[in-house]
Parts: sequence; structure tokens; C-alpha cells
Amino acid sequence: MPERWTTRPAVQADGIFLGDMVVEAANWRAGTARPRHEILTHPDHRRYLMGWQRPGDVGVVAVAGSESIGAAWYRMLPRTDPGFGYVGTGVPELIIGVRPMWRAHGVGRELLRALCAAARADGHARICLSVERGNFAQVLYRSEGFAVTSSGIGRDTMVKRLG
Ligand SMILES: CC(C)(COP(=O)(O)OP(=O)(O)OC[C@H]1O[C@@H](n2cnc3c(N)ncnc32)[C@H](O)[C@@H]1OP(=O)(O)O)[C@@H](O)C(=O)NCCC(=O)NCCS
Repeated sequence: MPERWTTRPAVQADGIFLGDMVVEAANWRAGTARPRHEILTHPDHRRYLMGWQRPGDVGVVAVAGSESIGAAWYRMLPRTDPGFGYVGTGVPELIIGVRPMWRAHGVGRELLRALCAAARADGHARICLSVERGNFAQVLYRSEGFAVTSSGIGRDTMVKRLG
């Protein structure tokens, strides 16, 4: 395993890998292994990827050697088909995932920082996400300036101001 990784902007051809990361995010809980097909065809998850890469979709991919090892991306979801983390029209919602063997090496934090920088550069004032309660990812989000703005059954919506 190479010791270091780099990040680069996500492109349309990353769609399949981003699908892998949606599966990682949906299966975050230890012992959970819902099948890829079931996750990616479910409306709750499909909306984060369908039609990638459409205008407004922005992402960052972490690469080690020739392998993609993690990704973070955002898209603008409409009020009529909101994501779990929807807070308002025009606020991008992010998704993040890192391949299991690369976790806890700082990849996730670097992706998150790069994506927030990209959102800021794109003129967004805020960025939002949804995280299930109990997922340690919430510790990462808090330490990067995200705060819980609302809570639903088993999950929290978090927002970061980018100004
Ligand atoms: C959440 C995730 C993207 C974080 O990526 P990562 O590369 O593992 O994160 P980092 O190594 O940058 O760690 C950032 C922080 O997360 C926390 N963290 C990381 N691994 C942890 C672990 N095993 N247990 C508890 N906290 C942990 C720590 O607070 C860490 O901060 P530190 O830098 O002070 O140690 C990644 O673990 C993942 O893909 N998880 C499954 C998918 C998922 O849950 N996605 C998010 C859905 S909302």
C-alpha cells in the first residue's frame, strides 16, 4: 500500500467509484453489508449519484498510486427531491466515503477540507450533510466546523458556514 495519496477534482468517469463510496456511506455501521445494487437503486441513495456529473456537481477524489481510495462530492438537490441533509434551495449537500483499509489516515479530513474550499470558491455560503447518530464521522464534521441544525429519527443534519 503506497504511503501517500493525492487529491484531484472528480470527473464524470469517477461515477462508478462514487457509487462505491455511496455504498460505504450506507453501510457505515460495523456488520452492515447491504448489497451494492440494493443501495444504489434505492431512492434514498440514488439521488446522490444519478446523472453524475451534472452542472453544479463538484467532487474531490483521493488517489494512491493508480487506485481511487476516497471521495467527497456535493450536489444541489431540489426541494421536490431533497436529500436527508436538505436545508434549503441552493445549499449543496455533501457525501463522503473512504475505502476501509485507508480509513483513519487523514484522507477523510483532507477530502472534506478540499471540498469545502471548492464550495467556497464556487460562491456557496453554506454546505450541508446528514449523518446517522453514532457514526464517528460526526466527530470529524464537528472538528471541521459543522454544527447540528436539526435532528430527525436517528440522524442529524449538519451545516458549515463557508464565509
Ligand atoms: C467517515 C470517513 C469518511 C472518515 O474518513 P477517514 O479517512 O477515516 O477520516 P480521517 O482519518 O481523516 O479522520 C478524521 C477524524 O475522524 C475521527 N476518526 C477517524 N477514525 C476513527 C475511528 N476509527 N473511530 C473514531 N473516530 C475516528 C477522528 O476524530 C479523526 O480525527 P483525528 O484526525 O483527530 O484523529 C470514513 O471513515 C468512512 O468512509 N466511513 C464510512 C462511510 C461514512 O460513514 N461516510 C459518512 C456518512 S455521513
